Amino acid sequence: MTDSFDVLVIGSGIAGLSFAYKTAQLGLKVGIITKKQQAESNTNYAQGGIAVVTSATDDFDLHVRDTLIAGDGLCDENVVRQIIEEGPKRVKELIDLGLEFSRINEESYSLGKEGGHSRRRILHVADMTGKAIETALLSAVEQHPLIDTFEHTFAIDLITLRKLKQLESGSAPADDRVLGIYVLDVLTGEVRTVSAGAVMLASGGAGHVYPFTSNPSIATGDGIAMAYRAGVPVENMEFIQFHPTTLYSSSEKRFLISEAVRGEGALLRDLSGDRFMDQYDERAELAPRDIVARAIDAEMKKSGSTHLWLDITEKDEAYLKGRFPSIFAACLAQGINISKDWIPVVPAAHYLCGGVATNLDAETSLPGLYACGEVACTGLHGANRLASNSLLEALVMANNGAVAVDEFLKKGNSGPEDLPAWVDGEVGDPDERVVITHNWEELRKAMWDYVGIVRSTKRLRRAQKRIENLSAEINEFYWDFKVEPRLLELRNLIQVSELIVECALQRKESRGLHYTLDYPDKADQLRNTIVPPRD
Ligand code: FAD
Ligand code: SIN
Repeated sequence: MTDSFDVLVIGSGIAGLSFAYKTAQLGLKVGIITKKQQAESNTNYAQGGIAVVTSATDDFDLHVRDTLIAGDGLCDENVVRQIIEEGPKRVKELIDLGLEFSRINEESYSLGKEGGHSRRRILHVADMTGKAIETALLSAVEQHPLIDTFEHTFAIDLITLRKLKQLESGSAPADDRVLGIYVLDVLTGEVRTVSAGAVMLASGGAGHVYPFTSNPSIATGDGIAMAYRAGVPVENMEFIQFHPTTLYSSSEKRFLISEAVRGEGALLRDLSGDRFMDQYDERAELAPRDIVARAIDAEMKKSGSTHLWLDITEKDEAYLKGRFPSIFAACLAQGINISKDWIPVVPAAHYLCGGVATNLDAETSLPGLYACGEVACTGLHGANRLASNSLLEALVMANNGAVAVDEFLKKGNSGPEDLPAWVDGEVGDPDERVVITHNWEELRKAMWDYVGIVRSTKRLRRAQKRIENLSAEINEFYWDFKVEPRLLELRNLIQVSELIVECALQRKESRGLHYTLDYPDKADQLRNTIVPPRD
């Protein structure tokens, strides 16, 4: 028997939860699938806040202009304008759910500033904005009678009409649509089939393609890999945003030191204690992220140092504890009192600007498949995301997606009553599980060394060769073994790495977050990189 929903949502971050809530409000029966505990998401760790026009000294045109400048020529201006103009309404809905942004007094919100913003416009809840948003949305979703949430449930692959017919009769129909998903119950190891009229991919980004990242462990690009395998094109995957300032430590998961700290006056210093950002950009510490991350990378390479310093000692302890309580505590746990000591910082992989190509209704090229949040590429970010624009994008696109899905289902589209059960691979020799751990490390090291902040064609080709080998090995392993989360994630990480390298090789210029030594200038022609699906 196949489980069935009007709409299935993969992911319980800001995108998945706000979409699920909106869709259920329209009367649809919604299932949310999430691979760990429901709060575990990039959303839950967001610090800086949501960029949205609320103040009398700001306006939509300024926010649009800042976004276009950061995006370095590749933003879709129509998308930028629509998302920015829709922002205040969608943020108000969060406030109506009980979210309380930090205030300076009864009348006014405290507005943060980050790189690339010409105005203070970032609504925040101290430095724990994501946690407050996640809590408010989870509470709304939990209380909704039309929403069921399935934790520890891993979406493996989409079931599509084309693939199904191909398996049944060997020939594929011209028309395609999504019919449901195969999911792994992580706690029991059982694979279930779930049918749906529409599927929303809200599975977030892919920070764990790299060994050093600000992202929690869920960020393994599963949705992008799934969509691509289902025949949906992906776009602009070369644009990986490295956050300039994460707390230097030997661990892979790097704690973020929000850009808002620089917004409140923190200075970057080299190992001799000298400032250097003004040699790279007139906006100095508050230049867009690509510029700051590249400058730090260049300074570290010049001096051979493992980190640089961030200095906010100009502010006193009481202020820092109030404005940045989680950063203050995390640094103190490492013996760093940020009101007295400089913070050792390094860049780390942070955000994926590319992803599954969608229009403003969150529709992908596959009927019934929608995508919103970090998994999607709408055209808002172009070649580099403006800080704090992603929570905004997720909220607006989740709303647009809910309206579009409702219309799609009203046309009579529903999930099939029955779908074929999953056929598992033979259980292989458990000794060979070392293949998973070894390949996991090898992949991410290759991505860090050859597809990092500064690239070259030779480095990208080196990465491509290694990824090809890893892909062949893991695909064989995938068909022979019983599926488990670590294997599924590795398969997806390899797929996403392939797509990143393919897009990076297509881009024969340096623009935004993609910098290559072989083409240091911008090309005259503006273009998005697209990887069409292979059959
Ligand atoms: P996520 O919040 O990452 O949620 C993805 C969900 O999908 C998770 O529930 C995950 O478990 C689930 N999932 C993934 N794969 C599967 C699968 N195969 N099966 C089932 N479930 C799956 N942006 C801003 O705008 N402002 C900020 O201040 C800010 N600060 C940030 C700070 C940090 C440390 C980080 C990491 C990011 C920050 N960002 C910020 C970026 C922003 O948080 C994310 O882009 C945004 O939260 C993404 O939301 P999402 O809903 O698309 O994905
Ligand atoms: C930060 O607080 O620096 C992160 C903001 C973002 O990624 O948008």
